[in-house]
Amino acid sequence: MIRGILFDLDGVLVDTAKFHFLAWQRMAGELGIAFGHDENEQLKGVSRRASLEKILAWGGQTLPEPEMERWMATKNAWYLEYVTTMTSADVLPGATEFLRSAREAGYRIALGSASKNALPILELVGILNLFDATVDGNDVTASKPDPSVFLEGARKLNLEPHECLVVEDAAAGIEAALCAGMLALGLGTPEALPKAHRVLPDLQDQDPRSLVADLEARAAAIAHAGAEGAAAERLAASAHAAAATHFPADGAATPNTHLPS
Ligand code: BG6
Ligand code: MG
Repeated sequence: MIRGILFDLDGVLVDTAKFHFLAWQRMAGELGIAFGHDENEQLKGVSRRASLEKILAWGGQTLPEPEMERWMATKNAWYLEYVTTMTSADVLPGATEFLRSAREAGYRIALGSASKNALPILELVGILNLFDATVDGNDVTASKPDPSVFLEGARKLNLEPHECLVVEDAAAGIEAALCAGMLALGLGTPEALPKAHRVLPDLQDQDPRSLVADLEARAAAIAHAGAEGAAAERLAASAHAAAATHFPADGAATPNTHLPS
């Protein structure tokens, strides 16, 4: 039974994904590396350092550590320049209402973000007070799809992983949630998030209790189909083994230990 909801930040609660894109694109431009929306999609949920490493790899470049540090600081300064213009109007559609109604419905609420800027941003847009616990890029170093950020969130909420639902906009974040043994709600398109238990465009007009019930039913159906598939595979494998021992390739009949004599 789901008792807690873990929210990613960028692209789930606030529209900062566009600012990360602009800042990385500016840096890539200065380094002479092509960077478009397809590349940016692969950086969603990925830590600052891992993002820089990926961009350099796409450009076939490597940099010494001091240069890496310098670019990370520069990219972050540009990002913060864009971000400081944000207000409560930049919270994504339905997010504040969903957080409030989830709390009222009794769910424990945590943040599970790779960003080191998460807390000041939540404060800036006025929703930090809606969280029971927060885990961000300052608390965990492993980047999604590593499940650490969500496992730590569950621990802080005093819940087991299977009692948690994750809300994510990144494929790496959905992987992390599934790897942690949690339910995963994707925000975006089913094409970008094929592994999520369900995908919605945003949180607008969603009732937390009904949404959780729907996700639990979908997860149960997947588990049931998985168990049936595995049973069918076992049956097919033992039928195959039985046929092989009855009719071995060299034609010499041998006893079939799988069938009653
Ligand atoms: C994630 C974003 O939430 O945080 C990534 O999706 C970003 O794009 C990562 O790189 C780290 O963010 P920050 O603010 O620490 O650079
Ligand atoms: Mg995100």
